[in-house]
Amino acid sequence: MSMLWWEQHCFWIFQMMTTDVLLIGCGAMGGALLKGWLMNPDLQGPFYVATPRRESAAPFLSDTRVRFVEDPANLTTQPRIIVCAVKPSMVATVLPTYVRLMNGDTLLVSVAAGLPLSFYARFLPPHAAAVRVMPNLASAVGAGISLMCASRVLGPEDQEILHHLLAATGRVVPLESDDALEALTPLTGCGPAFLFRFMEALTRATQALGVDEEVAADLTRALIVGCGPFLEKSPLPVETLRQQVTSPQGMTWAGLEVFNENARLDTLVTQVLRASHARAKEMKDAYGS
Ligand SMILES: NC(=O)c1ccc[n+]([C@@H]2O[C@H](COP(=O)([O-])OP(=O)(O)OC[C@H]3O[C@@H](n4cnc5c(N)ncnc54)[C@H](OP(=O)(O)O)[C@@H]3O)[C@@H](O)[C@H]2O)c1
Repeated sequence: MSMLWWEQHCFWIFQMMTTDVLLIGCGAMGGALLKGWLMNPDLQGPFYVATPRRESAAPFLSDTRVRFVEDPANLTTQPRIIVCAVKPSMVATVLPTYVRLMNGDTLLVSVAAGLPLSFYARFLPPHAAAVRVMPNLASAVGAGISLMCASRVLGPEDQEILHHLLAATGRVVPLESDDALEALTPLTGCGPAFLFRFMEALTRATQALGVDEEVAADLTRALIVGCGPFLEKSPLPVETLRQQVTSPQGMTWAGLEVFNENARLDTLVTQVLRASHARAKEMKDAYGS
């Protein structure tokens, strides 16, 4: 192994560990990402957090890697990665404040739904890259899924730095285009809310059978939490797992018959994901020009 090889790789590793990150917006998603990053001691930051209300950053400020940005005008650092986690409707008004902090090495990561990669070109200096990432809430515990696509081919160093950051929050799924990212977003980005809504329905239906609300909610949660590790350990398709627990003419069978009547469940879920998918285009038209 040549000395030059070693020096280059040590330099990269050092860079990865100490890469500074600016997080703009620390709400549900920004906070989930930050939580995931802070769980990984290898990520040394610093993490600058620019968000209007200090309370939003407060839960993280006991970690010495986190620095609250009181006023973005006072920021002098040029962070290697800028993560924009404000509402899609806010991105066009918020990003101009941060343009002066960008240079050709900047990776501008946006988690905003709907806004295509081409939208970010106006904020970027030459050679800088825009990266769309669609994470989900489970990123907060390192078990999320981050869909990712970039405005240009990223060099190996950019890829390493990004991957190191995003992998701290769970699985990273590189994709070729905005379209590919948008087709998967209803499943992985909105999926937690859809599952939670289904859980609410299960809880209410259990109450309707005469069970106390607290017990119904607690056991609904335990049900889903238990299925996670079970699925992780089972290589079988969920269809097979379902068949294994469905005795002909049994209780589970009777319930599933209601889902299956006129493909009721499949039709409903298809409508849900289609509505979510269509909303991305509406947001692009409303906020992306
Ligand atoms: N929620 C999800 O599950 C999810 C999943 C994937 C992607 N996303 C994307 O994540 C983005 C944020 O969504 P969210 O659910 O996290 O919304 P949210 O909870 O409302 O958070 C928005 C954040 O933006 C901050 N903000 C508002 N104006 C700002 C400004 N001028 N400068 C800096 N920060 C500002 C707010 O600050 P304060 O807290 O200080 O008021 C808040 O922390 C959206 O673009 C969404 O499409 C969300």
